Amino acid sequence: MTPAKLLSLFAAIAAVAQTSQCPQNVHGQASQMMASNIARSQGAAASSSGTGLIELGIFYQALRESIAATNDTADKQTWTAYLHNSTATAIPLFTNATSAIGLPLDRFSIGTEMMRQSHETQSASLLSAISTLQDSLAHQPRNTNGGLWYYDNRNNLTAYRNLSYTDGMYSYPTFAILSAGNGTRQSDAVGPAAVLKQLEILAAICDDGTGLLVHGYDALKAHGWADPETGASPSVWGRSQAWYTLGVLEALEALEALQSATSHVMTLDLKVSYSNMKLLFNSLIKAQIVALERALQINDRYGVWQVVDLPGASINGSQNFIETSASLMTAYFLLKSVRLNILEDTKLRNKAIKAGVGLWENIFETHVTRNANGTLDLSGTSSIASLSAQIVNAKYYFDRPTANNSLIGTSAFILASLELEKLCG
Ligand SMILES: *[C@@H]1O[C@H](CO)[C@@H](O)[C@H](O)[C@H]1NC(C)=O
Ligand SMILES: *[C@@H]1O[C@H](CO)[C@@H](O)[C@H](O)[C@H]1NC(C)=O
Ligand SMILES: *[C@@H]1O[C@H](CO)[C@@H](O)[C@H](O)[C@H]1NC(C)=O
Ligand SMILES: *[C@@H]1O[C@H](CO)[C@@H](O)[C@H](O)[C@H]1NC(C)=O
Ligand SMILES: *[C@@H]1O[C@H](CO)[C@@H](O)[C@H](O)[C@H]1NC(C)=O
Ligand SMILES: *[C@@H]1O[C@H](CO)[C@@H](O)[C@H](O)[C@H]1NC(C)=O
Ligand SMILES: *[C@@H]1O[C@H](CO)[C@@H](O)[C@H](O)[C@H]1NC(C)=O
Ligand SMILES: *[C@@H]1O[C@H](CO)[C@@H](O)[C@H](O)[C@H]1NC(C)=O
Ligand SMILES: *[C@@H]1O[C@H](CO)[C@@H](O)[C@H](O)[C@H]1NC(C)=O
Repeated sequence: MTPAKLLSLFAAIAAVAQTSQCPQNVHGQASQMMASNIARSQGAAASSSGTGLIELGIFYQALRESIAATNDTADKQTWTAYLHNSTATAIPLFTNATSAIGLPLDRFSIGTEMMRQSHETQSASLLSAISTLQDSLAHQPRNTNGGLWYYDNRNNLTAYRNLSYTDGMYSYPTFAILSAGNGTRQSDAVGPAAVLKQLEILAAICDDGTGLLVHGYDALKAHGWADPETGASPSVWGRSQAWYTLGVLEALEALEALQSATSHVMTLDLKVSYSNMKLLFNSLIKAQIVALERALQINDRYGVWQVVDLPGASINGSQNFIETSASLMTAYFLLKSVRLNILEDTKLRNKAIKAGVGLWENIFETHVTRNANGTLDLSGTSSIASLSAQIVNAKYYFDRPTANNSLIGTSAFILASLELEKLCG
């Protein structure tokens, strides 16, 4: 047995040993939440809300993983049709590259699903939308450091120009990796090296000194909240950090798939990008586990606080709170990274399993309710938070209203529940 195989065998044994911590009630929750979303007609089409694109992106990920996990042929058919129908409604958004540039980087999470689907259906209209998205990526405005703007919002350029958000790294990396094909189509916007560069630019500026990432930065340092030296924003917002971290994990998975498909021509470039992204992911998780253990001491439960670096705080009567979408996304990427064997240290892996299970249990017990007709509701998901305003402080995030059945939260619930089903067998 090679050392790598031995290692993954030990990892598998360790994971099985953890199943004693498995919650009794996890089985079937993911499919019930999916059925509930569909009963509410959510995610059937692109919405025009500020989070409209990214919420479809994560919902498509939840649909795709649900379809792969179920053995129920009726569910498989319904969910596949729902996914295809919804994706088709997004095609008209991407017919003109110049206007697509005016949408946030979130658009690429839809593009990722379009690329995966086009391999299955060979639809010409999907291919055309993908090509428009790729053109729009090549012309996305950048800062002088090479960092991509998050949102070239032409209706309000003063508020949005030269801002880079960690949120953008959920959507951009996997799309950019898939767009490089087997690695032969590289540029400064697509391919593993380009992705690593974007991740590193953001991490260098947004690291708060403990390995946690603040929401974003202003390259012009023109916003009132911008650090005068670095341009960094002041707070670690749970969801934006979760988007970034999840994006790194998805990129690693896409690179692994690429590696196994083209192992005989694996370029040095791909190897270097992969190992650097893996290091980055491990250091993000180390810092986030520290934050989760601090949260555990405050509340006796695992949870991701809305403002991660101020757990339990209140400011002038506004209170920080446990935010459900970030908590569930975190449960998902912790458990998935264990399954994919991305966490290298045994201690870290065990902590990740414990925190992943604990996050899911806490949110399930405190924020998921079942209606008389059987549908599931999830509460406590933060509304959109933006860096476009002049004043963005911790109190701003504390004061964000929370929504029930936000597609971001319910999709993260589905993904985390499926991952827990895989762990628990
Ligand atoms: C689906 O079927 C596979 C293979 O028969 C089995 O391993 C798996 O546990 C089943 N999954 C569920 C959710 O029943
Ligand atoms: C998908 O669209 C087709 C054609 O418009 C429609 O007949 C079907 O009911 C839709 N399926 C789902 C699951 O929404
Ligand atoms: C594409 O969009 C741009 C900006 O909205 C517009 O000026 C241009 O006319 C459009 N091109 C086509 C072919 O529709
Ligand atoms: C801001 O973005 C514009 C457009 O891409 C770019 O020309 C300029 O250099 C950027 N400024 C900084 C400080 O990054
Ligand atoms: C990579 O893709 C290019 C262009 O799509 C193709 O010509 C080449 O054969 C592919 N190489 C491998 C190893 O798959
Ligand atoms: C809290 O209230 C005090 C007194 O009204 C005010 O001076 C201060 O700016 C407030 N802090 C924040 C962060 O809003
Ligand atoms: C199920 O019950 C909830 C809560 O009463 C309600 O909001 C929802 O519309 C119902 N859904 C269906 C499909 O009947
Ligand atoms: C531009 O964005 C700022 C900050 O979000 C907002 O206060 C302002 O109302 C916006 N202006 C327009 C014209 O939408
Ligand atoms: C959201 O859900 C919570 C918890 O179930 C409930 O107390 C609250 O009334 C709901 N809010 C709305 C606007 O439906």
